[in-house]
Amino acid sequence: VPAEVRELLTSRIHDVPDYPKPGVMFKDITPLLADARAFAVLTDAFAGLAERHRATKIVGLEARGFILGAPAAVRAGIGFVPVRKSGKLPGATLSQAYDLEYGSAQIEVHASGLAEGDRVLVIDDVLATGGTAEASVELIRRTGAEVAGVAILLELGFLAGRERLERALAGAPLEVL
Ligand code: PRP
Repeated sequence: VPAEVRELLTSRIHDVPDYPKPGVMFKDITPLLADARAFAVLTDAFAGLAERHRATKIVGLEARGFILGAPAAVRAGIGFVPVRKSGKLPGATLSQAYDLEYGSAQIEVHASGLAEGDRVLVIDDVLATGGTAEASVELIRRTGAEVAGVAILLELGFLAGRERLERALAGAPLEVL
């Protein structure tokens, strides 16, 4: 995105130190969402990426990926598919486990939501360790769909997160706005 757009977006993301626990810098995107122009610019940027990568579906990662991904899907004229934390989807699901700092977590998608022939753009707000996005890439591929790319609003300074996700993407693009 152009430098002035990037500046507008970053000016609407607030750093909250020591949240949710000491030593963590939380990136609060709620000021961006509350600003109609910034949210529209962000939505256009994500929708533009969906078009550029010829996506047929947008997958949003719970929870902030829903807020960012759904309007981009509408704008791009394609469907939206949620990837949820486990136990939230009523239909038949595929699930993917991934490691957290302590323990592990699981994400799920409706088996009927994606299929062979789909090209999926994954949207989320933040890339940190890369664990969530990596698991979503693996999950999406298991449905038979192709991953057209991953688009993220903000990358935290963990190089390992980007490397981990790029390994999983195996050549598919990682777009950080
Ligand atoms: C945050 C963020 C990403 C993920 C990034 O979500 O929105 O989805 O963590 O971290 P990672 O790269 O280390 O996997 P969170 O798990 O806090 O869920 P929420 O949006 O439902 O609060």
